[in-house]
Amino acid sequence: MYKTIFALFLTSLAFANITANAQDNDPNMGIVPAPVSVKKATGQFVLSQETVLYADSNTKAVSFFTDYIQNRLNLRTQLKIGDAGSAANSIVLTAKGTEGLPEQGYRLTITPQQIIIAGKGAGLFYGIQTVLQLIPAERAASIKIPCATIEDYPRFGYRGLMLDVCRHFFSVEFVKKMIDVMAYYKLNNFHWHLTDDQGWRIEIKKYPRLTEIGSQRAQTVIGNYHDRTPQQFDNTPYGGYYTQDQIRDVVKYAADRFITIIPEIEMPGHSLAVLAAYPNLGCTGGPYEVGTHWGVYDDIYCAGNDSVYLFLQDVLDEVMALFPSKYIHIGGDESPKVRWEKCPKCQARIKQEGLKDEHALQSYFIQRMEKYLNSKGRQIIGWDEILEGGLAPNATVMSWRGIEGGIAAAKQKHDVIMTPGEYCYLDKYQSRSPNEPLAIGGFLPVSKVYSYEPVPAELSSEEARYIKGAQGNVWTEYINNTDYLEYMVYPRAAALAEVLWSPKEKRNYDDFVNRLKVHTGRLDLKKVNYAKHVFEVTGKITGSDKGVQ
Ligand code: ACM
Ligand code: ZN
Repeated sequence: MYKTIFALFLTSLAFANITANAQDNDPNMGIVPAPVSVKKATGQFVLSQETVLYADSNTKAVSFFTDYIQNRLNLRTQLKIGDAGSAANSIVLTAKGTEGLPEQGYRLTITPQQIIIAGKGAGLFYGIQTVLQLIPAERAASIKIPCATIEDYPRFGYRGLMLDVCRHFFSVEFVKKMIDVMAYYKLNNFHWHLTDDQGWRIEIKKYPRLTEIGSQRAQTVIGNYHDRTPQQFDNTPYGGYYTQDQIRDVVKYAADRFITIIPEIEMPGHSLAVLAAYPNLGCTGGPYEVGTHWGVYDDIYCAGNDSVYLFLQDVLDEVMALFPSKYIHIGGDESPKVRWEKCPKCQARIKQEGLKDEHALQSYFIQRMEKYLNSKGRQIIGWDEILEGGLAPNATVMSWRGIEGGIAAAKQKHDVIMTPGEYCYLDKYQSRSPNEPLAIGGFLPVSKVYSYEPVPAELSSEEARYIKGAQGNVWTEYINNTDYLEYMVYPRAAALAEVLWSPKEKRNYDDFVNRLKVHTGRLDLKKVNYAKHVFEVTGKITGSDKGVQ
């Protein structure tokens, strides 16, 4: 017994030592996602009250960094616009020296005298994020940053996370916190799933009942959807929505961190909350109530009623005014056709338009909305069901039921974002322990996320160019609080970030886990909860990082 405790004690001492030196011994210097190229050098740059910040001009990235240094690190460091020359103890943020860099790339040179971050737009911001990851988390009188030369750029342009705020609602403050962590891991698209059967979460001025009625459900099913027959309910009203002012605030906050927010307004399915508010938009006329259990509901928008299209155009007008993103996600998934099969208006539409069946009617629906959005200069993204009955001409496909939808779309020369459930659904169980909190099902440990290859082997190199990237999806049927949500998202989202950013040939799971150890203390400082399964092999994680971030 004592022997075991002593052995554990020795192991933990050895482990503490390893983690303390992890960054020194690590060819990637603890940076997640691993950069394209890192050349370590001797010496350190000392960031202190005397350090001066120079920038070509005060861009978004420059203000972000200045604010971070002054308000998070509490240094007096002043920003000067102009050429630093070789001024000692300076950090230079510049667009010079970026020749030949791919989009979003940066070059970082750290010497004992100067840090030079060379990049344009997002590239400069990502160089800054790398510097922030090199700042030791321990609080000290001066901040020592190890010398190195780094060149870096992403493998994929689209690196996303989706948050479902319909099944459970998450505050503006929490969404911003998630955006902060996304930026830290160089993720750049936040897909905001704003409407679904169980709640409409975005204020639309022209249709106030969407939030008055549609954002509130009477109660919520208890436990796993399939656990109990009959289902039991908690008898507790649940609701919430974002005002347009709040949305504008979040969109700006994300843009300042080079993150695009893509809003999702579901159609023609997952629309029961709308029908509860405006029953004339359904095939039967109702009455309907906002969804109280999970799964797929038969009641969807009536595709034969022109008021539906006019309603959606009005909604999308307000959505487009709030979200400057090129893409608007129109959903398109899980739309049962049972109501359409029996609805005289839907059947008349099929006849009048010469459509083959209800799948073709869904295609008509999506194409009509695409035409509208295209006329306003926007592009649509839809879940892979939009392939059924014929793809809308300019649509991007989000492949979720596997990779087949992505393959089919790429072969039809359509852009694709991969998000197959098997690798990218962050609502699945992370371990087989009976102590895991209730999840939707399935098994997706961090190692499996890390093993994901977004480009299907079935595609030629020409077709592979349509794979724009991938995305982790956080569906929240069972995720009803922020601690639990973060537990599900981190570190799986960091693993996906590395899949999407780092060169394929550089990927190495053991090396990734070693670098993650450095991040646990940083996430603690950011008060971010995270799952610890990846560290359980060694039985210990570093908790030594304390300080300023
Ligand atoms: C989805 O998971 N229904 C896109
Ligand atoms: Zn109908």
